[in-house]
Amino acid sequence: MTTVKRTHEITLIPGDGIGPEVSGATVEILEAAGAATGVAFEWHRFAAGAEAFKQTGEYIPKALYDSIEEDRVALKGPVTTPIGGGFSSINVTLRQKFELFANFRPVKNLPGLKTRYPGLDIIIVRENMEDLYAGLEHVVVPGVVQALKIITEKGSTRIAKFAFDYARKHGRKKVHAIHKANIMKLSDGLFLSCCRKVHEGFSEINYHEHIVDNTCMQLVMNPYQYDILLTENLYGDILSDLCSAFVGGLGLVPGANLGTECAIFEAVHGSAPDIAGKGLANPTALLQSAVLMLHHLNEGETAERVQAAIEQVYAEGKTLTKDVGGTSGTRAFTDSVLAALQSPTATAV
Ligand code: NAI
Repeated sequence: MTTVKRTHEITLIPGDGIGPEVSGATVEILEAAGAATGVAFEWHRFAAGAEAFKQTGEYIPKALYDSIEEDRVALKGPVTTPIGGGFSSINVTLRQKFELFANFRPVKNLPGLKTRYPGLDIIIVRENMEDLYAGLEHVVVPGVVQALKIITEKGSTRIAKFAFDYARKHGRKKVHAIHKANIMKLSDGLFLSCCRKVHEGFSEINYHEHIVDNTCMQLVMNPYQYDILLTENLYGDILSDLCSAFVGGLGLVPGANLGTECAIFEAVHGSAPDIAGKGLANPTALLQSAVLMLHHLNEGETAERVQAAIEQVYAEGKTLTKDVGGTSGTRAFTDSVLAALQSPTATAV
């Protein structure tokens, strides 16, 4: 074992449903990878949502807020949100509280997996705080409900700047702003005008605008035409699940919620109640979110080791979970990634 060179304090929200299964696997793999590179983790664990309410009487305990504020980095499993009533989404509340304005979701194929679109590499950059997710709804008169779609110049400019900055830094060639400004002329119109203005400072990057319904068709017909999708909150949420299907499903696609002070890393998927507690969940999406977290912490070597081990297991294809066509469960998949960390093949990092 290598001597510990650095320790990172990280707030860990295991979540519910499949959350404890995928976060347990992720923590195990991170600790093994860190042991080889001299990186240690101190996990500050907290429940959130219904489980936290049972324990503390709060859906997001104050101690959890304090921990994220102090650690500035959190790894989060999915948390169930009641449908059509009950408490507000924990995810949305945390994004609002810590001003995590950018939701970054890379959609990329893993080696060995047979998908309809091999070699796909799209990034979804989703505005994370505004739009219909502001949760401003009220009954106008019985039988009529109004939900407010909030789009601001500040929010739209900030997310557009994030997308173009990312494109410039990482050599990406194209940004498509996704909208419905033909119908929502003022709100989506404002979003587009902000994107156009920001693009003026990034003339080397190709900029296009696509209407969201057409985008869905275009994505299914030929997703390769896209590079970065720059979207408002709701369109980004829907397009993320659609795009995840191109590379093997929700069990794979990671995400980062980024602000100027804090960052919360979580998968695109939810708590998957249909398979929770059965040992079937695929931890890859949260694990790849943890890889994004390691890069954010400037732990590139550990990040690359974990990514290489994941890719090795997919390339071998012997212990994949059912959602991606395998026959194994969470435990066997996790054990294979742990083994790949110990004995990487020649092609792995
Ligand atoms: P979901 O993402 O939980 O599940 C959709 C389908 O994908 C299910 O068939 C599920 O089994 C499968 N799936 C998802 N993740 C998987 C994994 N890691 N391995 C294998 N299969 C996987 O979406 P659903 O059912 O719409 O939502 C369930 C709950 O999760 C809801 O309460 C929702 O509000 C919440 N949710 C929470 C999120 C978060 O905490 N970030 C994000 C999205 C939804």
